Amino acid sequence: MLDLFPDSAAVDEHGLSLGGVRASDLADEFGTPLVAYCEQTLRGQARAYLTAAPEALVVYGSKAFPNLAILRLFAEEGLGADVSTLGELELARRAGIRGERLVVHGNNKSDEELRAAAGAGAALVALDAPDEVERAAAAGVRRVLVRVTAGIEADTHESIRTGYQGSKFGLPPEDALEALRRTTAAGLDAAGLHVHIGSQLLDTQAARMTVEWLAAFAAACRSELGGWEPAVVDLGGGLGVRHVPEEDAPSVDEFVGELLRRLERGWELHGLRRPLVVLEPGRSLVGRGGVALYRVGAVKRASETTTYVAVDGGMSDNPRPQLYGARYTAVMAERPETHAEHAYTVSGKNCEEEVLVRRVLLAEPRRGDVLAIPAAGAYTLAMSSNYNLLPRPAAVLVADGRARLIRRRETLDDVLALDEP
Ligand code: LLP
Repeated sequence: MLDLFPDSAAVDEHGLSLGGVRASDLADEFGTPLVAYCEQTLRGQARAYLTAAPEALVVYGSKAFPNLAILRLFAEEGLGADVSTLGELELARRAGIRGERLVVHGNNKSDEELRAAAGAGAALVALDAPDEVERAAAAGVRRVLVRVTAGIEADTHESIRTGYQGSKFGLPPEDALEALRRTTAAGLDAAGLHVHIGSQLLDTQAARMTVEWLAAFAAACRSELGGWEPAVVDLGGGLGVRHVPEEDAPSVDEFVGELLRRLERGWELHGLRRPLVVLEPGRSLVGRGGVALYRVGAVKRASETTTYVAVDGGMSDNPRPQLYGARYTAVMAERPETHAEHAYTVSGKNCEEEVLVRRVLLAEPRRGDVLAIPAAGAYTLAMSSNYNLLPRPAAVLVADGRARLIRRRETLDDVLALDEP
């Protein structure tokens, strides 16, 4: 179980600690719900990418958890940022990410976003619509990728599967070729190709097939476009994270190593020139690093088989179980290793039949206890809402026995500020 938690997680007679700080102390000091990020794990994951792909440009898929301190931490490690809106671009700019490490995405970029990308000197803008060729050029963008749909079905939830034929993302191969044809006339530098076939991938199969497909497509581009070859190949993100003990996920080393080997073989097979590889991991950088802490409230038997443990958050701070049927697990932070005989269902306090964790063995949860959900660092706070006018949680970064607030908790005034008086 502890292996789902961050590297610095430990258990002693006081219970779970993260980065040398007791989980219950974090809850007392910063309140709950709280997401505690382990600095050691975040840096470790970033380094794992850079070690597995020392020649690649690795950019953090910032949508997984857009936060200034996290972007700065990854920038210190040598990562850039993948941004897909004006907000994410502005955050990356404030974090001091230089243009040469910025990749800009979006299936429906506004003119303002294209101009902002150009203004930030973004290394690459991934074109994702036919008319973006001319619109990007007019906005002052210079260097682009074309996002192409490989027609491959990744084995993941349908809402986060993006490389199949018919996806709203990317251009079908013929349209991608046509867009590439027009780039030169428009005054753009067509640097290469982009694919991202989906997220929370728990094996390498679909990603491997995509790389092979891409090699063949790059060769087709060369013959169709008078010898043009991609100087840059952006393979997107996608590596998944284990949320429950029964799940298995490749390590960064396995996932990236496999893709790079396939790429090398495919490129060699077609006699293509070795490209610069770009990787855009989001979830695998921050997922395991983050632990969600909640305070237990009502414990209620609902039927012969179901007893609910209600916590002080819910789908408003983690909508993933509702949206994707995502499974999580939980432990009582003060006694994570106590033998537990009874299964409980962890629900939130939102007005909906929401379930954060279904049927998990917990050691006698009582009102006031702290409950910890591991692997909750990606796409949780990032997708949180104010449903039921709940303020969004805070986040802290823990290391060496200290915790630093990296995102303050919303106040009721924040939540109520937008309505006209
Ligand atoms: N690059 C592109 C172009 C993307 O669209 C994404 C994620 C990434 C990189 C990063 O992918 P990752 O390494 O995190 O899988 N809200 C969903 C996930 C949506 C992913 C969107 N795109 C969830 O909670 O599972």
